[in-house]
Amino acid sequence: MEHLPKNARLYIIFIISLAFIFGILLLLNYTVPTIQSFLLFLFLSFLMESMAVLMPNGVAVSVGYAVDLTTMIVLGPLGAALCSCFGMMLRYTKVSNEDRRHIGNTPLYKTLFNGSQCLLSIGLASIVYYSFNTSVGDPFFYLNIVPLFTAILTYLIINTSIMTKLFSILHKQSFKEMFVNNIKWTLPNSFVIATLGIFISILYLHYGSMIMLLFFGPLMLARHSFKMYLDMKNLYMETVYALTKAVEAKDPYTDGHSKRVAELSVRLGEFMDLPQQKIETIKTAALLHDIGKIGIEDSILNKAGKLNDYEIDKIKSHPAIGVNILNEVDFLKDVKLLIYCHHERYDGNGYPDRLGGDDVPKEAYILSVADAFDAMTSDRSYRKAMEVTKALSIIQEEAGRQFHPEIASLFLRMLQMEEDKNNSEAITI
Ligand SMILES: [Fe+2]
Repeated sequence: MEHLPKNARLYIIFIISLAFIFGILLLLNYTVPTIQSFLLFLFLSFLMESMAVLMPNGVAVSVGYAVDLTTMIVLGPLGAALCSCFGMMLRYTKVSNEDRRHIGNTPLYKTLFNGSQCLLSIGLASIVYYSFNTSVGDPFFYLNIVPLFTAILTYLIINTSIMTKLFSILHKQSFKEMFVNNIKWTLPNSFVIATLGIFISILYLHYGSMIMLLFFGPLMLARHSFKMYLDMKNLYMETVYALTKAVEAKDPYTDGHSKRVAELSVRLGEFMDLPQQKIETIKTAALLHDIGKIGIEDSILNKAGKLNDYEIDKIKSHPAIGVNILNEVDFLKDVKLLIYCHHERYDGNGYPDRLGGDDVPKEAYILSVADAFDAMTSDRSYRKAMEVTKALSIIQEEAGRQFHPEIASLFLRMLQMEEDKNNSEAITI
């Protein structure tokens, strides 16, 4: 925990202490209906959290929330808070084929923080739920929609706030902005998972635990299919990255170029406040933008002298070749368009289709300016790297010609602001 900033450490300690006090209060004021039902739902909570699927963006998706909601309806506030907290703390997750994550190899503060977040979220949501005219284990709970809806919303707001606050401290970003982004992403998913929780509760309260457990079979199957889809997607992306490496290996001067263009494009996308999904598309397109060069002879790519017309045409075919390589993959549809357009110019004198203006997606212009900046400021087989100031003045001159004027100006402003920030940090240190 020592590596974390002081305010992050204080925040983590605060949340853990708050959860501890809240847990004691629940213990003093509530009970669980039976120890058997408590152990059953504790096991289900542990199982669901252990089977969380890790998304490519690092977020773990689980249906543990459905079980949380069920425990709230079936066991009341204390049972819900304890099952969710211990289910999360004891989880055993598979990160990769070799890597497993569990309480034994996770830093204690992380385990306690995650458990506290669960305890506070479902515990407080339960208090809200039972503050209405509701009773623990009511088989017809679903007829009373207002308490359910209010509890789901409370859970979401508390859960998202706790995590967002930590990330806003760690990444020094505005809490409000991050919160709005996160809640937009989680809201629709959470209501789908909540419906699942309501369904599990009805099965348990009307037909008993055995029928409810039978329902987990199809749920596991759905989870398995989703995991397989993600694995396939990851495998495909890994293959594509390997291809990118292969392109860069053809010309040692371009080593790391795609990755740097991706980093620059993402920074610009964030600076422009683009939605996260668009930023992800730009990042993938940037990583793969020159993949078409795989289909061009090394003798042309690495030629130190002037290129003849045939060779220029060959080079200009790389966006189209890139799109052909990626053509069979449906989820890269938006990415392909950006790759196809990354050498189009704003004035319509680019290639392959001499489009320009608003006929080229803005994201392709982002890619274009980041690509040009990195190309100018790195060594190439036919010239040395240019000074950064010189590259920036070229971008300024070419705004409205090669580059989209607004995007070029935002790019320059972003680099200027980053430099100012670095300078002021250097003075403070
Ligand atoms: Fe290119």
